[in-house]
Amino acid sequence: MTRRDFINSTGASYASLLAWGFLQPAPASAFNLPPNGRRDDGKARRVVVLGAGLAGMAAAYELGKLGYDCTVLEARSRSGGRVWTVRGGTKETEKGSDAQTCRFEEGLYFNGGAARIPHHHQLTLQYCRELGVPLEIFNGANEAAYLYNDGGTGELANRRMRIKEYHNDMRGYTSELLAKALDQSALDQQLTKEDVEKLIDFLKNEGDLNTSHLYKGTNRRGYKTKAEPGAGPVAGELTDPYGLTDLLRSGFMQPVFYNVGDYVYEQQTTLLQPVGGMDAIPKALEKKLTGKIVFNAPVTELRKTENGVRVVYQKDGKPTELTAEFCVCTLPLPVLKNIESDLSGTVKRAADFVPYIKTGKIGLQFKRRFWEEDDHIYGGISRTNMDINQIWYPSFGFMGRKGVLIGYYNFYSRAEAVGAMPITEREKLALTQGSKIHPQYPAEFDNSFSLAWHRIPFSEGGWATYDDATRKKFYPSLLEPDGNIYLAGEHTTYLTAWMAGAFTSARRAVEAIHARVGEYTKK
Ligand code: ALA
Repeated sequence: MTRRDFINSTGASYASLLAWGFLQPAPASAFNLPPNGRRDDGKARRVVVLGAGLAGMAAAYELGKLGYDCTVLEARSRSGGRVWTVRGGTKETEKGSDAQTCRFEEGLYFNGGAARIPHHHQLTLQYCRELGVPLEIFNGANEAAYLYNDGGTGELANRRMRIKEYHNDMRGYTSELLAKALDQSALDQQLTKEDVEKLIDFLKNEGDLNTSHLYKGTNRRGYKTKAEPGAGPVAGELTDPYGLTDLLRSGFMQPVFYNVGDYVYEQQTTLLQPVGGMDAIPKALEKKLTGKIVFNAPVTELRKTENGVRVVYQKDGKPTELTAEFCVCTLPLPVLKNIESDLSGTVKRAADFVPYIKTGKIGLQFKRRFWEEDDHIYGGISRTNMDINQIWYPSFGFMGRKGVLIGYYNFYSRAEAVGAMPITEREKLALTQGSKIHPQYPAEFDNSFSLAWHRIPFSEGGWATYDDATRKKFYPSLLEPDGNIYLAGEHTTYLTAWMAGAFTSARRAVEAIHARVGEYTKK
């Protein structure tokens, strides 16, 4: 009898098949709580969820599976919160700015908030699997993209440089220097002769050193324009390496040029994104919650009652009340702090003092994908010390006619300064600075849409930014239930700034509520 025959013949349940080891559990999906979200009288226990972002919707979705009756209150007319895809027709009015309506062509978009999924964010990927959200590669590290150090005095400042040139030259020179040190036996206290030989072999490969262990350039940094290897006798003409001192003195050791795309855990290959825009994730969750989300319903009061919670929200300009046994509150702290509430002093203090990052992006639509056609850049990120900080090339729609790239993605004081500009000035800044890297900008520009998260109502910040002190002082109070109110959202995790934080926090809140109900029902 085969396994399949056995399964078919016994009609075994999914749970028993799992228990017998016949099925591999999907990773990160082991959320197998017994459904008991009902009271003794058979009625579902009521939970009010504040915010239809990823945390709120995932909480309502999971609570629903367990038999709870959830209502999600959402201030905006859309779900997703900071998981937001900007496309033609998207509207937003920031605090103190003019209203914007996006004019991108059909099929073009950029992700205004969450924009990449690390391959190790298993829970986010598990939800994509479960919800049927198709993914594609997000190209984060592209050696063909550019670095541009503006305002420096060195030979290589104030001009663009391919990342592959910089990386390979620096690897070459540092490998050469270390090989020299090894040749001179400078390190041989710790290393045997054989170790040194092996390390030099490694360095020869790492830096592409010649037989004398010198770095004299490499084809890894590319060929001269119009001198790529070709047919017949065309061998290709190598580019010349930059000088080490020129590299050192031209400002490229600033943190902004650091090789985050290869080195930082969250940015290492492989990164993924949903096909068609990040909002595919909230849209899929929203579908699971039909009739459960009340839109255009900003919360104004959050109260504790004898048996649970009472929430007041605005509906059609009128205060409306809702009571429930539990509340899952996912509002970002800068929003929560302005709501009248019975939250404890420690939670209120956390809402007041946990800092949120200021961050902004601009999407620029161009008539032609010159970064692909002229510069051979397909996805990835150029980096600069200018206010624009980064240029992101789209990882979708390659070879299309028009395209939208992210003309800036900046943080802290730069985001604050750029965000404070009128919308038209932000566009001008993105074009002026971006033109230094891509002189094609002025001729090819169509239109733009910009955002500054710290100015966007109902978000009022990019994400929570803890340091050791704020983590110690404020974070613990966000993890404990405050009466029957449970907080969730990226700010209640060590995965701040990631969708995985929203998801994992939702499951933590659901588990905590469910465990508490389990305790009641045991009594
Ligand atoms: N998670 C955010 C990003 O990927 C910070 O840029």
